[in-house]
Parts: sequence; C-alpha cells; structure tokens
Amino acid sequence: MGKVYYVSKNMGLGMLVLAGTALTTIIALSIAYDKEKAKNQSKPGNGVTSSSGTPIPPTTPFTPKEPWDHYRLPDSLTPVSYNVTLWPRLEPNADGLYIFTGHSAVVFKCMKETDLIIIHSNKLNLTTFLGHHAKLSSLGQVTAPAIQRTWLVEKTEFLVVQLKSRLAVGASYVLQTEFLGELADDLEGFYRSEYMEDGVKKVVATSQMQATYARKTFPCFDEPAMKATFNVTIIHSRGTLALSNGREIDMSDSDIDGVPVRVTRFEPTERMSTYLLAFIVSEFVSIQSHQNNLMIRIWAKRKAISDRQGEYALNVTGPILQFYEQYYNTAYPLSKSDQIALPDFNAGAMENWGLVTYRETALLYDPILSSTGNKERVTTVISHELAHMWFGNLVTLRWWNDLWLNEGFASYVEYLGADYAEPTWSIKDQIILYDMQKVFAVDALASSHPLSRHEDEVNSPAQISEMFNTISYSKGAAVLRMLSEFLTESVFARGLSSYLNTFAFGNTVYTDLWDHLQQAVRDTPAIHIPHSVHDIMNRWTLQMGFPVVTIDTRTGTVTQKHFLLDPDSVVDRPSQFNYTWFVPIKWMKSSVEQQQYWLLQKTDTCSQMRVSGEEWVLANTNASGYFRVNYDLDNWGRILSLLSSNHQYLSIINRAQIIDDAFNLARAKIISTTLALKTTKYLSKERDYIPWESALRNLDYYILMFDRTEVYGALQAYLKKQIQPLFEYFKTLTANWTKVPTGHTDQYNQINAVGIACRVGVEECRELIKSWYRQWMKNPSHNPIHPNLKSTVYCHAIALGGVEEWDFAWSMFKNATLASEASRLRSAMACTKAPWLLNRYLEYTLDPAKIRKQDATSTIQYIARNVVGMPLAWNFVREKWSYIFNQYGRGSFSFSSLVNGITKRFSTEFELQELKKFKEDNIHVGFGSATLALEQAIEKTTANIKWVTENKAEVLKWFTEEST
Ligand SMILES: *[C@@H]1O[C@H](CO)[C@@H](O)[C@H](O)[C@H]1NC(C)=O
Ligand SMILES: *[C@@H]1O[C@H](CO)[C@@H](O)[C@H](O)[C@H]1NC(C)=O
Ligand SMILES: *[C@@H]1O[C@H](CO)[C@@H](O)[C@H](O)[C@H]1NC(C)=O
Ligand SMILES: *[C@@H]1O[C@H](CO)[C@@H](O)[C@H](O)[C@H]1NC(C)=O
Ligand SMILES: [Zn+2]
Repeated sequence: MGKVYYVSKNMGLGMLVLAGTALTTIIALSIAYDKEKAKNQSKPGNGVTSSSGTPIPPTTPFTPKEPWDHYRLPDSLTPVSYNVTLWPRLEPNADGLYIFTGHSAVVFKCMKETDLIIIHSNKLNLTTFLGHHAKLSSLGQVTAPAIQRTWLVEKTEFLVVQLKSRLAVGASYVLQTEFLGELADDLEGFYRSEYMEDGVKKVVATSQMQATYARKTFPCFDEPAMKATFNVTIIHSRGTLALSNGREIDMSDSDIDGVPVRVTRFEPTERMSTYLLAFIVSEFVSIQSHQNNLMIRIWAKRKAISDRQGEYALNVTGPILQFYEQYYNTAYPLSKSDQIALPDFNAGAMENWGLVTYRETALLYDPILSSTGNKERVTTVISHELAHMWFGNLVTLRWWNDLWLNEGFASYVEYLGADYAEPTWSIKDQIILYDMQKVFAVDALASSHPLSRHEDEVNSPAQISEMFNTISYSKGAAVLRMLSEFLTESVFARGLSSYLNTFAFGNTVYTDLWDHLQQAVRDTPAIHIPHSVHDIMNRWTLQMGFPVVTIDTRTGTVTQKHFLLDPDSVVDRPSQFNYTWFVPIKWMKSSVEQQQYWLLQKTDTCSQMRVSGEEWVLANTNASGYFRVNYDLDNWGRILSLLSSNHQYLSIINRAQIIDDAFNLARAKIISTTLALKTTKYLSKERDYIPWESALRNLDYYILMFDRTEVYGALQAYLKKQIQPLFEYFKTLTANWTKVPTGHTDQYNQINAVGIACRVGVEECRELIKSWYRQWMKNPSHNPIHPNLKSTVYCHAIALGGVEEWDFAWSMFKNATLASEASRLRSAMACTKAPWLLNRYLEYTLDPAKIRKQDATSTIQYIARNVVGMPLAWNFVREKWSYIFNQYGRGSFSFSSLVNGITKRFSTEFELQELKKFKEDNIHVGFGSATLALEQAIEKTTANIKWVTENKAEVLKWFTEEST
C-alpha cells in the first residue's frame, strides 16, 4: 500500500527545506503514500541467522498446539469465490454508533482431510444460526458435515468451526455468515470518514484492508495467497453512490426492513487477494475519460471536483497506465480504473485493485493553489499505485515477508512512470534523494536488517505491519534499480514481462522473479554478468547493510567493507557472505566513462584505476549502485578542486552523491569532518537543486546537533555566506520575486534559497516574507504568496511573529478547502517560537475536532522539529503516553515515526537517561509499533553524544574560519 508515511517524496521536496523550523515538513512529507507506512526504518524481529545463512525464526517460549493458535491459516482449505453483501449506515443508530451489517457466502475447496474450518474474523458480531456462528452446505454430490460448535479466537483473529465429521478432499462447500460491525473512525477495515459540505456533515464509508483488515469487514481467508473471486453487493441509501473493485453492473431501488435503499451490484472481480478489496459509499462525484476501452475516473468531494482539483490526476493516469502496459508488455488487467481522494486516510494511498484510495493531498491538485511539490507528489503517488496494478495485484507475493519486493519494485518504477507523464522534470534523478540517501541512513546502522526475511519470521499482524518500513520501500527500490542498471533496462523489462505473464492471477516468491530475469539474460548474448542474478542479488537481499568501496588511485587497489555509520557499533547478525558483496561499479576517469568493473572480493586490483598527474577517478557514476565510495586523499583533493573549478563536469547526481558520501564517511570516521565540510565550499557556485538538497540534509544533522550550542552562530554565518549567491540568483531569475522559475527543480531550489536565507538571517529575505504575510492578513481572501513558497513563508512569518500571526494561520487552516493548504498551515503553526502557543497547539492534537486523528502524530513531530518545541513535545508525549498509545498506538503506522521525530535532536547524556527512563516507566503500557523505534532512538542518541564530543571543536573551528 502506500505508506502511511511515505509522504516523503514529493510532498514537495521543496518543502524539505531546512528552513529552520520548516524542517518540520520533512516529517510530514514522510507521510505519504502507499501504505508505505512508516517509512521509518523499523527493525524486524530479533531473528538470527543460522550458520548456513538462512534466517531462522526467533525461538518463542511457547509453541502453539492447536491450529487456531497459529497466526497462519492451515493449508487444508482454499477459497474459490465469495458473495459479499455489505450495508453501511451513514447515520448513527439509537446507541449513537455507526454500524454496518452484511452477509457473505464463501465457496471453498477441501485440499486436505480436516474436520475444522478456520477462517479469519475480527471485531465482527456474528449472527447465530441454531447456536452456531455460521452455516455450512455443500456444492455437488457430497453432503456437508454437521457443525459441532463454533467459536472465536481473539488473539489470532479466527472464527473456528468444528465439524462433526470430516470434509471430503476435492469437494467444495459453502460457508455462510451474517455479521454486524462498527463503522468506526479507526481508518482500518470498513471505516467512516467525515467532512463538511455547505455546513452539513457528510459521512463516507470507506475501507483499508491491507494488511489484515479485510477480516474486520467480513469473515474471509485473509492471506495474500488465498486468492478468490468476489461478487460484491452494496446496500446504501438512495442519495449515495457505491464503488468497489469491479464495475457497477446493476443498481436497483428497494425497501429492506422498511428502509428505502439502493442496491448496487458489481461485476465479479478477477481472482485476487483479500487485502486489495475496497468498498466505498459516498456522495462523491467524478470526472472521467476513456482510453481505448478502459474507463478512468477520479472521485472526490463535490467541491474538490467542481474546483477542478481532480483534473491533473485524470490527465496523468492515462499516460501512466499506457507506460506500464508497454513496460510490462501486458495489458491493464481490469475493465476500469477508479481513483478516489478521501478526507480521512491513514496511509498515503492504497493500491486496491481497480479502486485506488488516496489521501486528498496525494490525488488532488489545484492549478491555482497547489505547489509544484504538490503536483509532483500527485504524479509519483499515482505512478506508484498504478505500478502495483500489475506488480503486486495481478501477480502477488505469497506472503508478507516478501513485501520488500512488492514495495521496492513500485518505489523504483514509480519514477519511470512519472518520468513518462512529465518528461521535463528529470524526476528519475530524485530517487537519489528520496530513496537511496534516505535508506542509506538507516541501513548503515548495526541494528538494520536484511531486505528479505524468512516466511516464518513474519506472522502476527504487528509483525506484518513492521514490514512496511524504509528498508522495504527504499532499499528495495535502490537494489532493483541497480539490478536494472547492470542488466540494462530492456533485459530487466523482458524478464519482468515473462514473470508477470507466467504468474498472472497467482502468487510467487521473490526468487521467481530472479529466475525470469536470469532467463532474459540467457536470451541476450550481449549481456554478461559474473554470477547468476540469484547469486548476485542474494548478497544484497540476504545480508543487511551495504559496502563502502575504497579506491586507491595511487595503486589501483579496490576494497570493500561493510559500511557502518558508527564504527564502534557491534554487528551481532552474522552473514553467510561475511558482509562481502558482488559490486557492479560504473566509473569514469577524467570525464571519460569506463567499462563497468565488478568487485567480487574484499580486495582486488583494477589497474585502470591507477592514475597520475591531474587525472581523477569517479566511481558509481549516476549513483547507479547501492554503495558508497571513498578514495585516497589525493583523489579526494582532485575531486574537490574539480568541484570548485568546473563542477558541471560532474553530473548533478554525482555532485549530490559526493557530498552525501563524504558526510557519511566522516560520520563513520573514515575521512575527516573537515574533508566532508569542504565538499560544501563550492556550493556558492552551485545552482542545481539535488546537490543543494543533499548538502542541506547533511548540514541538517549539524544544525540538529548544534542549534542549542555556541557552534550555531558560526554555522549560521557560513550558511549565510553560501546561500547569499543563490538567493541573489533567484531574485534575478524571478525578476525580483515576481515570476516563477520555469525549471521544475529550479522551483524547488528557489524554496531552498528563500528558506535558508530567512533561516540564517538574510534581512532582505525576512522583510520580504513578512510583507507578503502581512498583505495576506490584511486581505485574507487574496493570498499574494505563490503556492511553491507558501510553506516556507508561512513558517518563517509565524516564527518571526506572535499570536496574531498564529491565530490568523489557525483560522485559515480551519477554513481551508484544499487539503494541501491545510497541511501547509498545520506544519507552519509549529514554527512559532512562543512556548505557550506551542503548548496550546500540542493540546489541540488530542482533540479530533481541532486536528484530525490521522494528523495528530505528525503535528506533534512538527512541533518537535522546532528547537523551542522539542522539549515541550517530549514532555507532552511522556506525560500522555498511555493515552496517546491507546488512541493511536498498536497498529498505527505513524507511531514509530513519532518517537523517531521527537528524539532526533537528542545528543546529551541527560537526554539519553530520560529516554531510558521513559522506556522503563512505560513498559506496562507498551510501545507497540514504536518498540523498535525506541531501541533505535537509544542507539542513535548514544551515537550522537559521541559524535558531538568528538567533533564539536573541529566543526566550530572550521565554520568560524570559513564564515569570515
Ligand atoms: C460469483 O459470480 C460468478 C459469476 O457469476 C460465479 O461463477 C460464482 O460462482 C459466484 N460466486 C459465488 C460465491 O456464488
Ligand atoms: C451468490 O449470489 C448469486 C446471486 O445472488 C446466487 O445466485 C448464488 O447462489 C450465490 N452463491 C452462493 C454460494 O450463495
Ligand atoms: C457486538 O456485541 C457486543 C456484545 O454483545 C456489543 O457490546 C457490541 O456493542 C456489539 N457491536 C456492535 C457494533 O454493535
Ligand atoms: C489537463 O489537460 C488539459 C488538456 O491537455 C489541459 O488543458 C489542462 O490544463 C490539464 N490540466 C492540468 C491541471 O494540468
Ligand atoms: Zn506500494
């Protein structure tokens, strides 16, 4: 699915500005799509690796005896087809509860002799028939056994039907249930979303099944390999409209129990997994287009559609589908494509087959009010979700342990689809920032984990939920991109197409893809790889982390070593490959591309890499491999002088990657901090976005570590000196801030220029934004601020202002009709420097009438991002942990990022003790999905303390010298 938190991309990178408090946005951003839930890294269980290297499940103290005590379904039954009828009530009942009722019949086949039917059911009240929760009948000749008893198992979320005799192998049966559930506002399963329209409250019934919530909607065999067809019927009130995965084929009005209703029936679905189902009842409207015979519709609230906010999504959907049809060489598998924007949605988006659900900010784009970043987010999220229509939906991984392949794949090809829809954006380059660098940061920790996990390690819903992390999404994307680069895109696409055609409507494990890619390699004589796809990829998927490749250009020696951000950390996870990778190295010598070199051992010699004189070597061109690069000091020196004399000789991606590698090598004590800082000196001449963004993100760590210390003054002065030329450049380019730069990434870099300039105290910048905001306050119906700059301007104006500026933002937030505008304001309000305003805002986060539940945790993180807000947010969360945990915890995807966000600045012994105490004090409450994040926070804080101690003097000295 989309990540809850996947936002990260795009929500406007632009917004990522390290503009001081605007940094906050980073987090929000990271809330985005596809269930990409918490993109935070979370460490999977404590599975250990056996000496043979295959991960073995952690030993549990208790071995379940009964089949219903296991989380996994037995393999004795397989579903064939369901009839599902649902009737959501959009008005509360006499007890004030919103409910839905329904009934379902599942035809299943008996594969192994058994007298038990085990089927998922969670939080449903099942009607009893003669004392049992279900009815059983048979299809065909056999007679169905009588039911002895039925019961529910809460922990494993099963309905168990014990029969008086056994089912016959090969025979088919029908299990019928009738149920009632709550249509809660919990964003899970069949749930309720609300919004206001013309002063009237409207209720939407909608659904989120991934990963384990279909069972909360109707009893079903709720595992991805239990594919079946679904005949869906939805009963709803006459003024509303129902949607599901298939096309609506019949609508009729009738009266049920004296209630006038409309009954909508949908065409039978293809064979599919339960987690991809979707059911929606709303008063939404749509716009549509047709591509060949395919109907494409975009749905949203009436006002959003009449403001034409769905138009952009409609415009790009056709081309993106067309791109994938070509790329996969497979026709779109369904008869329609619906996409819908929901007011309340936990993930960023969810790839339900044929009915993709989105947060409003991920689907709606207002040509006047939205920023370029908003637009890019819409494009990439759509591209991500539509990639799943084939990869993930048509062919589905058998179990959640292989989620990385599903999500990593979509996270990689989303760039290809988006590039096809918007060819002038150079969007493919951005994978460096939004996936590679992002996951490098977490995968360089000793607590990281391999991409691939053993099937037995992932069982409970909580373990499944943990799979939706940065490693799965972004490392998956990075290693698949590397694979596609060394196989070439055409071979990669050929293997992919053969995989999709072979397994259409079925399930796979990740090695099936390797087999088909290997076949494509065999069929292409021009491609040579030193080992099989399988063997090469095992190195990247079965062991955690990645290597740093060191090239000594004096000798031609090339070595690799497991890269750890903290060189003193202890890796207690053994690897069967001894942390050695098969590394494909694309490289250049003095601007000339060289033949790809494979590093297959720890140490090797590549005589062509020995250079003399002015020659320089640059490895991992275009950052196509998932590794970092280090050189001897002479070559570093030549690269630095190249940057300062002719930085355009290197590609944008490589400039960005040199900076990011240098900063991280310094963090790992492989090179000096001074050398890393030197890579930023040429920035006074840099105008491109990706290198700047890379530098700012790395400097952001320095800001977090030092913004409460004396270093901050010198750091600010240096940044001011470096940003001034960029600020002037954009001032000229935009004719004194009256025009918008034409280049897509220039628009982002303008935001950086303004954000940093204001942040570090360029007076002209501060005056500029204050005057824009003042104009807006004077005339609220006319906002003079360009959408691209709104986030930055709001944030700084509120930071520099007082209660009036804040209250104005609050009233604009309450009245905002565009979700992305509301979200900008919500983040900007966290920028105030007034503690009382921040505390009041924190209180608002627990009042759903003020801040939607879906936004509570990210709002707290925004506040924590602010240097003044951080201690307030930390106190707030500690004080209310048990309340917050019970309201938002457990399955909530945004939960681990809360802990992550609040502890980012922690770098003192005192803070470490507080963190440990917090852990002890709340053990009885628990930490749910934040458990691993808490461990990581402790690890990171420890590392920060050490880093600050070791580097403070050097950093202070460097910034002081360079800022004058
Ligand atoms: C659903 O409809 C299809 C096509 O009409 C039919 O073949 C299938 O048996 C139905 N499923 C059930 C559970 O009746
Ligand atoms: C499913 O619904 C169809 C249409 O109402 C009906 O003909 C069929 O018998 C149902 N199947 C089962 C297994 O109940
Ligand atoms: C389900 O049944 C339980 C026990 O009778 C009751 O407390 C609960 O309110 C019911 N749920 C709904 C949604 O009506
Ligand atoms: C959608 O496409 C139409 C036709 O090409 C164009 O006029 C319109 O401006 C586009 N809308 C958006 C929001 O990009
Ligand atoms: Zn996805």
